[in-house]
Amino acid sequence: MKALLGIIPAMAVMALALPAAAAPDGATIYGRCAACHTKTGAGVPGAFPPLGADFRALAAKADGRRFLSLAVVRGLSGPMTVEGKAYRGVMPAQMLDDASTAAVLNHIGTQITKTGPAFKPFNTKEVEGHRSSGASLSAADVAKLHAQVGGK
Ligand code: HEC
Repeated sequence: MKALLGIIPAMAVMALALPAAAAPDGATIYGRCAACHTKTGAGVPGAFPPLGADFRALAAKADGRRFLSLAVVRGLSGPMTVEGKAYRGVMPAQMLDDASTAAVLNHIGTQITKTGPAFKPFNTKEVEGHRSSGASLSAADVAKLHAQVGGK
């Protein structure tokens, strides 16, 4: 019994330590984006758009930030123009939770994009709001949003 009582506080300490240890790592998650957008975010012209100036310009505006979250959460399909080049591709929804979505967008905004306005980090709560307000949107709807929010 005495030994058991000693274990309980140790388990409580482990449970408290877990969330920090399990915080999503944007750089690791970016590995899956890099399969298409490339490691540097330069993309492949005409096939996979760059994550660059357009990303940072969108991240500087409320409706642009919603587009960026929804691109990851709902996916994209259909025509869009990024940095003056036309794309008509499909990006599958990325099946990431809110914290992981924020983490990967923040990795891109701070480590991948090099030009554009100062980057304001996403947080879990913000992505949660974007996800719920965009829950009925298809990947094609999200691609249409791009031009509506000033993406170019
Ligand atoms: C299977 C390939 C693929 C993967 C994996 C992928 N994307 Fe995409 N992504 C695309 C394509 C294709 C488009 C353009 C879609 C279109 O033409 O409608 C795109 C567009 C985007 C855009 C819009 C860019 C802009 O300037 O408006 C963002 C943002 C984006 N992707 C982020 C991500 C992130 C973040 C990840 C990883 C979590 C990711 N993508 C993973 C293929 C991919």
